[in-house]
Amino acid sequence: MKRKVIGVLLSVAMVSAMVAGCGSDSSSTSAPAETEDTADEAEAPAEDAAEESTDAAAAGGKIGISMPTQSLERWNRDGAYLDEQFKAAGYETILTYSDNDSARQVNDIQNMLADGVDLLIVAAIDGEALNTAMDEAATAGVPVIAYDRLIMNDAVSYYVSFDNYTVGTLQGQFVVDTLDLDNAGDTVYNMEFTAGDPADNNAGYFYQGAIDVLQPYIDAGTLNVVSGQIDFDTVATAQWSTDTALERAQNVLSSYYADGTQLDVWVCSNDSTALGVAQAITSDYAGSNDVIITGQDGDEANLKNIVDGVQTMTVYKNVSNESIVTLGLAQAILNGDTVDESLIPSFGIECAFDTESYETSEGNACPSFLLVPNVITADNLQDLVDTGLYTMGEDGYLSAVQ
Ligand code: BGC
Repeated sequence: MKRKVIGVLLSVAMVSAMVAGCGSDSSSTSAPAETEDTADEAEAPAEDAAEESTDAAAAGGKIGISMPTQSLERWNRDGAYLDEQFKAAGYETILTYSDNDSARQVNDIQNMLADGVDLLIVAAIDGEALNTAMDEAATAGVPVIAYDRLIMNDAVSYYVSFDNYTVGTLQGQFVVDTLDLDNAGDTVYNMEFTAGDPADNNAGYFYQGAIDVLQPYIDAGTLNVVSGQIDFDTVATAQWSTDTALERAQNVLSSYYADGTQLDVWVCSNDSTALGVAQAITSDYAGSNDVIITGQDGDEANLKNIVDGVQTMTVYKNVSNESIVTLGLAQAILNGDTVDESLIPSFGIECAFDTESYETSEGNACPSFLLVPNVITADNLQDLVDTGLYTMGEDGYLSAVQ
């Protein structure tokens, strides 16, 4: 999982393969477009603006932005930032949310292609379920940026995300440091895991990053997973659902902790699952100790829980920066510029160009721009305010701006 940055050597090959995608096999079949339009366009295509056909839009082109769902907080932000930033840069945009329904996302993307988009930005609901739409994009010669979540199809040109494995290692290391596990002596701490959606390619990276840091302490007996539920499939949470995470946490608490066994840590891969676990601990845990709960994203409800001492940390990913990198990359693609690490200074955002870690199919690495995640606790909430993306109320709670 170690990242290696090899940009310059591959750049020429990558630009020529830009439209063909990440893989060496660029052949694809075009499936018939679905006729029924179920797209939930949060913001309808700017038809009026298109008809007025401003020079800027004509020069910039049309961008299709396909987000997974509005029911998980972050994607509302991603969609809004991408939409705003592309419009401000002179592009016409189509923004859709697909209600966590893969068939609908395929349909939404097909509609964008039919609408003549010049480039697609897609955060997949299920990285394995978009082949029909991706193959059509390849046939139409439309480049695809996999946004945040990788899509398992070689039509994907580039990937923009955070370093997903590092998100997990930050969660694991937080537990090690907070409990000072290296000096724990004979003390045994009890813990549980909740991971993300198996359909989301990121979920395995988050989980593995955390496990890789914590496994030596589990092996040494310093950490004890009381339920024994540790493998990814057992601890995974379909669609990252808060309710599903809550239900499983309640079951684990009633089965393994109702006898007064102390729970010390619950590693949750993200904030939506942490919300469910925190709720279960608040209502169903018999102990009175503070339980360390990890998360990821910086959702408003979770930041409130951090202020209230109910959640301990979150791994913050600045999605405004993620959309700025995506815009810079899209501009380079559409202008025919070389895409490699030499673009990074123009983004003005810390990230790595990685041509090894992510594959859209076996042996087909997808060139990726990976941003840097940060740990947020009650002690450094001001860092979020300093981004300009949150304000802090008099009660100390944070609200996202917009
Ligand atoms: C994202 C996380 C998010 C999760 C659920 C993942 O793909 O990387 O930031 O918490 O999806 O929305």
